Amino acid sequence: MTPTQSALQAVQAAGLYDVERIRADFPILGLKVNGKPLVFLDNAASSQMPRPVIERLEHYQLAEHANIHRGVHYLSETATAAYEGARRKVQRFLNAREEREIIYTRGTTDGINLVMHGYGRAFLGEGDEIIVSQLEHHSNIVPWQMLCEEKGAKLRVIPCNDAGELLQDEYRKLFNARTKFVAITHVSNALGTINPVKEMIAVARGHGVPVLVDGAQAVPHMKVDVQDLDCDFYAFSAHKMCGPTGIGILYGKAKQLEAMKPYQGGGDMILSVTFEKTTYNTIPHKFEAGTPPIAAGIGLGATIDYLESVGMDRIAAHEHDLIEYATAAFRSLEGVRIVGTARDKAAVLSFVVKGVHPHDVGTILNEDAVAVRTGHHCAQPVMQRFGIPATARASFYLYNTFAEVDALVAGIRRVQKIFS
Ligand SMILES: Cc1ncc(COP(=O)(O)O)c(C=O)c1O
Repeated sequence: MTPTQSALQAVQAAGLYDVERIRADFPILGLKVNGKPLVFLDNAASSQMPRPVIERLEHYQLAEHANIHRGVHYLSETATAAYEGARRKVQRFLNAREEREIIYTRGTTDGINLVMHGYGRAFLGEGDEIIVSQLEHHSNIVPWQMLCEEKGAKLRVIPCNDAGELLQDEYRKLFNARTKFVAITHVSNALGTINPVKEMIAVARGHGVPVLVDGAQAVPHMKVDVQDLDCDFYAFSAHKMCGPTGIGILYGKAKQLEAMKPYQGGGDMILSVTFEKTTYNTIPHKFEAGTPPIAAGIGLGATIDYLESVGMDRIAAHEHDLIEYATAAFRSLEGVRIVGTARDKAAVLSFVVKGVHPHDVGTILNEDAVAVRTGHHCAQPVMQRFGIPATARASFYLYNTFAEVDALVAGIRRVQKIFS
């Protein structure tokens, strides 16, 4: 059995963006919820999986499964080749200089924690400062706070304006002789702001300070080139880019990774072990202790194949059209406020409906089979900045349609009617 070809091949050949052909690759989008067609607008939390990725996972389980790196038998060698092949795909996808700069993790959170432990605990000390932004997801705040607590270091925060854009002058002012690390998000999950990370990295570079970029909301939606960005670390998760859960990537510059301490100890991350001394493996394996989610890693490779078959630029263009359309529609809704109006914005629409709690908005939309996220989006400091406890958030992806935006808008009108 081999995975079937994607329906996208024809679209690709024709050079068109045929959203219906894309949707045909995602079986789950055919679901009915409450008797109505599913409108899935919670992609920033987790996106759906296309058939070629599902089939690649199935093929692995049916014909390739064995533990990797350790066996000389057919299945182990086949699984190892597929898993390491996926690592090379990630390297190419991110334009990393070397394959060994690609570390498999459990996801963005795990990648950031790896850097906090491996770099932060080794190289930061009392009185040192770490710059983060007001737009961070909790996973790019809490690990650094834990480090600050342990080391007596200090967190400095880049503020944002009312549109949700980081204040670049304030950012520049935060640097001083004690600044030792910068950790910033590429795209805000709560507001959709696309931060000018390339310029921000250049500023940090000017002060000799390394930068970690949280790319959880960027890699699924736009071309990311880590050499062009010149970041030291870049973390993302497969499940937000049509891939499996439980797997993600940490890119790190080889010289940084080599200098770092391992995150976890165990099998695969060693060259030799005696009771007197352990010699660690070379990168990336030094950071990959124990048996990984092998199928998920291979699935990530298939996910990259899929996204590339559609084209990252074309996905970005489609999402741009969707967010423009949705924003215009929302502006015509009285009593609805968009939270996050940055000039450079991804396809994320956070909003509040006057007089209605976001959870009620989400619950009523669900009756119409419209799935949005409600709450603080693991970004409570963002909510605090805007003086609100929560928002409802619609987040779009390659398979969403203008008709689905219309369904969302109709759902909000119904919410307003119920609460009027
Ligand atoms: C910007 C951002 N960073 C980090 C994360 C955490 O990702 P994960 O839960 O896959 O580790 C998310 C998830 O929503 C996110 O949106």
